[in-house]
Amino acid sequence: MSDIDLTTASGAPVADNQNSQTAGRFGPVLLQDVHLLEKLAHFNRERIPERVVHAKGAGAFGYLEITEDITDLTKAAPFAEVGKKTPCLLRFSTVGGEQGSADAERDPRGFALKLYTEEGNWDLVGNNTPVFFLRDPLKFPDFIHTQKRHPATHCKDPDMFWDFLSLTPEATHQVTVLFSDRGTPKSFRHMNGYGSHTFAMVNAAGGRVWVKFHFKTLAGIQNFTAVEAQKMCGENADHATQDLYQKIETGGTAEWEMQIQVMSEEEAATYRFDPFDVTKVWQHGDFPVRTIGKLVLDRNPKNYFAEIEQAAFAPSNMIPGVEASPDKMLQGRLFAYQDAHRYRLGANFTQIPVNCPYMARQVANHQRDGAMYDGAAEGSPNYEPNSVDGIKERPDAEVYPHPVHGEVGSHARDYIQDDFVQAGDLYRLMDPEQKSRLVGNIVGHMKNVTHKGIQLRAICNFFRADSDYGKRIADGLGLDLEAEMKALRG
Ligand code: HEM
Repeated sequence: MSDIDLTTASGAPVADNQNSQTAGRFGPVLLQDVHLLEKLAHFNRERIPERVVHAKGAGAFGYLEITEDITDLTKAAPFAEVGKKTPCLLRFSTVGGEQGSADAERDPRGFALKLYTEEGNWDLVGNNTPVFFLRDPLKFPDFIHTQKRHPATHCKDPDMFWDFLSLTPEATHQVTVLFSDRGTPKSFRHMNGYGSHTFAMVNAAGGRVWVKFHFKTLAGIQNFTAVEAQKMCGENADHATQDLYQKIETGGTAEWEMQIQVMSEEEAATYRFDPFDVTKVWQHGDFPVRTIGKLVLDRNPKNYFAEIEQAAFAPSNMIPGVEASPDKMLQGRLFAYQDAHRYRLGANFTQIPVNCPYMARQVANHQRDGAMYDGAAEGSPNYEPNSVDGIKERPDAEVYPHPVHGEVGSHARDYIQDDFVQAGDLYRLMDPEQKSRLVGNIVGHMKNVTHKGIQLRAICNFFRADSDYGKRIADGLGLDLEAEMKALRG
């Protein structure tokens, strides 16, 4: 190793990195010690705001390879031909915990994919579950508040948790997934990923279909039991982060099959579930899955902060051939993420190398300046129209034209019965051991609720999904439902 001069950030050589400058041997430290000042000041600025949700995570790079021709469905660049490989970044996360929280906590896991395509970055920012707790973005901040810390005690609070969820019947399906074995995956490699929302695919001829994206792990699904997960939380808060890094570092890969479900506009109009409600799945019997590609992770980040902490995934990053659906949650998310990135990373977050659309044929617009601006546009015009730079709009990138009508208003999409059908179906699909673990996990959490009324309201939702499901939770909590009902009726 050849010697290299130690320098300040401005490149000036540093004479002494062991002793600060003082006025005499025993005198006070001098303000003129600019190296000391720089070190202390930089240290104070090492933290940026953590993600308001999904703060704890890990990620790796790789590629998506297409194995089936779907150009009849979409003109999106990654699907242009069988065998095409598109480079990607995938970040996994837990949702509610802070940056230092344990990987093994019971929580959904984030599954955020960034595909670096010739048409720009396409982000599919999903979870390891095909559904979500809510169907309206207006409820998201309230929901997240209840999953985090109490404003006074600063502790997780089972009353808040179940108060909100028991008043949110559409969450029953996702709550069932959360407290099932799948709420504690053994590692990031041993779980599926889902785009969760319904998206539109548009083909070169201008035809549109609705799609769901699924990523099925090729390592097989493996989960911790509640006891194993709790133990792991105590033993190693970073077990899944380590697992992913070590797997790839020792020459291994993490792999998923990419699948889609496809629904025509006519089918959407008559499907028995609202196809744009993210609390529901499209049942596989109704809309079978098709395997169309393989996702492979084979490269670790060289620097965690630069490439994973600063990674900015946004559902609004879409490319021609993939568009949003009217799913209200997805529509809300189209705003939320880039707003978070501007707050967390600054106005020029797309210039950070990991977010840079480096595969895009070009990045050409008239946004300029702001903190950390790289100046790549040099002296070119910062206004449009102009007669200088030749930058032209691309009419073929226009959104799929479709009529929209209806009365403006805060419309509820209430499907009271439907809110329990799929949760009940999922419960009935489980074998006896899975059912027992699910019930045990819910009871184990809900027994800490201090208000019986909240417990009863939550049980009511599970009961409406499946009477056996609700009854077993009531039994587990030592509640006699009949007596409680009588007491309520007075
Ligand atoms: C992260 C908002 C629903 C998956 C985030 C972040 C925000 C946010 C602000 C932090 C972004 C950042 O700082 O980089 C919302 C809102 C939602 C919503 C407002 C509903 C209206 C969902 C849903 C899913 C999801 C339904 C999955 C189906 C994720 C994932 C991340 C994330 C995976 C982490 C991305 C990463 O790894 O950087 N969300 N979210 N979110 N969200 Fe959501």
